[in-house]
Amino acid sequence: PAERTLVLIKPDALRRGLLGEILGRFERKGLAIEALVLRGMDAALADEHYAEHVDKAFYPPLKQFMTGGPMVAAVLAGDQAIDVVRALVGATDGRKAAAGTIRGDLSLSNRENLVHASDSPDSAKREIALWFPDFS
Ligand code: CMP
Repeated sequence: PAERTLVLIKPDALRRGLLGEILGRFERKGLAIEALVLRGMDAALADEHYAEHVDKAFYPPLKQFMTGGPMVAAVLAGDQAIDVVRALVGATDGRKAAAGTIRGDLSLSNRENLVHASDSPDSAKREIALWFPDFS
């Protein structure tokens, strides 16, 4: 049974011309793209999306980064999509992420780490509703 997850391809990825590379990795894995949009994140959406992080020390620069340019948001679907996508994306810190992962191969930063992916069924549900309110 297919599971759904939300992915954000962050402003650093678009700035660096890595959109096709990153989307291609998800496609080649066999995940289905069920929704896709190019858009920016404003301050209010950032605070909602990252509700669990708004009080953390790293949040102000994270918010500045995430609101600093266009992004691509996507709903990806497939068997165990949440865990499969997180494995493809790799650990948060690009300097520590395993080679072969998106962050491990393409990011050298703990903040500008190219991709966000939902970390649980509850967050996938919440984040899909936030980014794609008409999606059912
Ligand atoms: P993401 O998966 O989008 O979830 C929260 C984001 O905060 C994370 O990716 C990074 O972009 C950023 N982040 C998490 N921890 C740190 C940190 N210690 N320093 C800077 N940025 C961080």
